[in-house]
Amino acid sequence: MDKRPIGVFDSGIGGLTVVKEIMEVLPDEDIIYFGDTARVPYGSKSKETVIKYTFQCIRFLLEKGVKAIVIACNTASAASLDVVQQSFDLPIVGVVEPGAVTACKMTKSKKIGIIGTEATVSSGAYERAIYNIDNNVKMILKACPLFVPIVEEGWQDTDIARLTAEKYLGDFKNSDIDALVMACTHYPLLEKTIEEVVGKDIRLVNPAYETAKVLEKMINSNGLKNERPHKAEYKYYASDNPVKFKKVGENFLSKPIGWVEKVDIEK
Ligand code: SIN
Repeated sequence: MDKRPIGVFDSGIGGLTVVKEIMEVLPDEDIIYFGDTARVPYGSKSKETVIKYTFQCIRFLLEKGVKAIVIACNTASAASLDVVQQSFDLPIVGVVEPGAVTACKMTKSKKIGIIGTEATVSSGAYERAIYNIDNNVKMILKACPLFVPIVEEGWQDTDIARLTAEKYLGDFKNSDIDALVMACTHYPLLEKTIEEVVGKDIRLVNPAYETAKVLEKMINSNGLKNERPHKAEYKYYASDNPVKFKKVGENFLSKPIGWVEKVDIEK
């Protein structure tokens, strides 16, 4: 039994797609979320910079007294999960492996598409995770860097989003993949648009649910479950633009967010 909150962070508001699943799978757990909105996107930054930011985000959450951490950012998970797991003495879950597991369960043709940021795609993290599960799978990877700013602007249901998706993903329509991993926490917000562009024969993979299940297992096996009967509390922090975070975030979560506190984690 452990009443401390779970810490979740992302480069911006996209990680709320993972928070949504954690709220469903672990309804009794309090959550502290940090969105690094001042420095989003991470996907176009170097590996060293992303690792530095990840350490700062984790230290901030540790100061808030969390018992476990979810890196709800594919770019940060791909660049730094191994390093931070070795550096901190608490359970840390990333989103890459859960995404790979879900994709391998879903594909029948053993041909998987992976879309993510430039950093995630070039890291090779998804290829490694998928080959570890099944080395007969073939993959097509594509970086879609404009998707993150489109979502951060709240433009996911606009013509801009549709035209951008057509430009990036049009070729997937004629490919033989049957599963497409949305390997960026922002992309599930574009799910409808992506599905319209690639067609319904390609199943979209959102790593968020499997990530929440991995977290649940970790919480249970480490004796960290919050068994105190209470209404779970959620706190939100952002490094910039808390008003926009609240507006776009409420849309993501389909529930009120309350107060978003602006914090500087660079000190
Ligand atoms: C980004 O910060 O560029 C996107 C977040 C992610 O990779 O999931």
